[in-house]
Amino acid sequence: MDELEKLNKITDDVDKELESVSDLNSLQQKKANYLGKKGPFAEIMANMKNLSVEAKKEIGMATNKVKQAIENMFEEKRKAIENAIIQKKLEQEKIDVTLPGVSLPVGGIHPLMQTVMDLEDLYISMGYTVAEGPEVETDEYCFEKLNLPKGHPARDMQDTFYINPELLLRSQTSPVQVRTMLEKKGEPIKIICPGKVYRRDADDATHSHQFMQCEGLVLGENITLADLKGALLEMAKKMFDKDRKIRLRPSFFPFTEPSVEVDVSCGICGGKGCSTCKNSGWIEILGAGMVNDNVLRMSGYDPSKIQGFAFGIGVERIAMLKNKIDDIRNFYINDVRFLNQFKEEK
Ligand code: DAH
Repeated sequence: MDELEKLNKITDDVDKELESVSDLNSLQQKKANYLGKKGPFAEIMANMKNLSVEAKKEIGMATNKVKQAIENMFEEKRKAIENAIIQKKLEQEKIDVTLPGVSLPVGGIHPLMQTVMDLEDLYISMGYTVAEGPEVETDEYCFEKLNLPKGHPARDMQDTFYINPELLLRSQTSPVQVRTMLEKKGEPIKIICPGKVYRRDADDATHSHQFMQCEGLVLGENITLADLKGALLEMAKKMFDKDRKIRLRPSFFPFTEPSVEVDVSCGICGGKGCSTCKNSGWIEILGAGMVNDNVLRMSGYDPSKIQGFAFGIGVERIAMLKNKIDDIRNFYINDVRFLNQFKEEK
């Protein structure tokens, strides 16, 4: 076989061999075999010394050409393999952006907060503003200025957590009335105050050592018990349903005179009597009354000019009746199975 035939054979061989190569390592190996020091070209070059000047020139040129062509073949094959690797990777890592995402668990509004928000919406729509006060309160604001001097027997109605003789965890939201009156200095007032309160009660289905109230206070000229009744009837209709009735029963609170307890007609039996309303047709939801003259005076109001009403709604009571919950502890255990029932579907 002369040199030119050898060169042609090398090209054919490489062509054939490259067909089956599919990874860069073997490609590198083969390249070294053909183009390296021990490859067929090295052999041809070694034979050159035996050739005539003419033949040397011809074979030399042909060798270079073929070598170059073979280098190109390897280079092209390398590119093809690299491309195939990238293609495969892309194929494997393909992301379908049209697939739905993984939904993460999100919380909902707590039923108590929802009740507070509903109360706020209603009273704000009737011209009230929302006031706040501290949960650590003074004895003076929580009791004394509400006509409950130290040693007054009515203090027994609320078993209180004292921090020291002058500081306590508020047992009612009524001290916010005092704070607002002191701030407004004799001006008319129309506020509600939702918030947490604390009592030294043992927890059971209807008692919790911490619960929520929503206080209301309206002071102005010519405010009467009829206004109080209107404000509470609206609340009952909004929080329950438009057919609800309320009734006022005489009661006692040191900060109001007269004082009333307010019942709403039972939504389960429609007032006929059932186990929920203990066959009375009515369910107690709050305490209220006309603000006691002493309370007005102690916070700088002149009862001959300005009077008004106050009320204290039990927020859990409303939320329990509305959502048919029979144990107050459910609000505070925070079992997600309970809470999820109140989650609005998105
Ligand atoms: N503070 C009372 C309680 O916790 C509820 C209450 C009754 C609030 C009558 C009032 C009111 O503002 O006028 O039992």
